[in-house]
Amino acid sequence: MSQKGEAFDSNCMTLTRFIIQEQKKHKHATGELTQLLQSIQTAVKAISSAVRKAGIARLYGLAGDTNVQGEVVKKLDVLSNDMFINMLQSSYTTCLLVSEENETVIEIETDKRGKYIVCFDPLDGSSNIDCLVSIGSIFCVYKKITEGEPNVNDALQCGRKLVAAGYTLYGSATMFVLALQSGGVNGFTYDPSIGEFVLTDANMRIPERGNIYSINEGYFSQWDSSVQEYVQAKKDPTKGKTYGARYVGSMVADVHRTIKYGGIFIYPATASAKNGKLRLLYECNPMAFVVEKAGGKASAGKDLEILDIVPTAIHQRSPIYLGSRLDVEEALSYIK
Ligand code: AHM
Ligand code: MG
Repeated sequence: MSQKGEAFDSNCMTLTRFIIQEQKKHKHATGELTQLLQSIQTAVKAISSAVRKAGIARLYGLAGDTNVQGEVVKKLDVLSNDMFINMLQSSYTTCLLVSEENETVIEIETDKRGKYIVCFDPLDGSSNIDCLVSIGSIFCVYKKITEGEPNVNDALQCGRKLVAAGYTLYGSATMFVLALQSGGVNGFTYDPSIGEFVLTDANMRIPERGNIYSINEGYFSQWDSSVQEYVQAKKDPTKGKTYGARYVGSMVADVHRTIKYGGIFIYPATASAKNGKLRLLYECNPMAFVVEKAGGKASAGKDLEILDIVPTAIHQRSPIYLGSRLDVEEALSYIK
């Protein structure tokens, strides 16, 4: 506990300390997951630092390449992807990686292999980089399930099998939110003065119901009528309390706000994108895992929870309805 008058809490719970403490709760833990999460922590510290000085270091703008989804890759995306890959590779804890930026799975060299698979979006919200709006990193961790050489099937597991997932938000402060299979959701704010993430949001719980809806309304005409009707209802005082609208356009920021304040985040199917836009393995699944662990709900549509989808391709997409349990259930009740 901190003493009054102290500038720092001399006994603060850092992310490193928290992870070690969690490891010690499991008698048979080898420390491999601890080491893996440490390597992610190093990667995101470096990404956060790069994001903060991007303008000065001229990291904005195009890197002159396009990623597997055909989108233009920014310099910061490239750097963030390299950080994740290099740190995870040298952690000796992984055998296979899936990145939004790489078309195929990344196999780790034999002598550096461990038992985990990590799927990540190294820098999500790329369209927001150049205008200084919040962006984030998303990751999730599976255990290898196949015998022999690691292969793509090790990454094609449903979200229920996740060991851990989380995200970092490079917003007005940098925040690391971690959900463990064996525990709850905890948020750590980066303290630049000591270079550590410090526990600020212990045992995060999403409100049962909120009063915010978050969806890109520019696509209204392309939505299914159920989504149109739900969103109209949220603006119609004759249909109950009206909701506020918030949409950053960075999934990490929109989901983080949804966890903190409650409400619903939707990226539905549209006429031109039948499975929506967001990727199952490194966007929907990790966020669904965190939100469920925080007491919320994440669905792909009626009767299909995000975490129950068994993926068939590493870059597959899914519609997503995520947030406060009662809000998500209400939105789903509109789907016929
Ligand atoms: P990205 O991976 O290219 O950054 O795209 C994902 C982002 C999400 O962060 C966000 O929720 C969504 O795209 C916004 O898309 P849209 O501009 O279509 O609303
Ligand atoms: Mg992304």
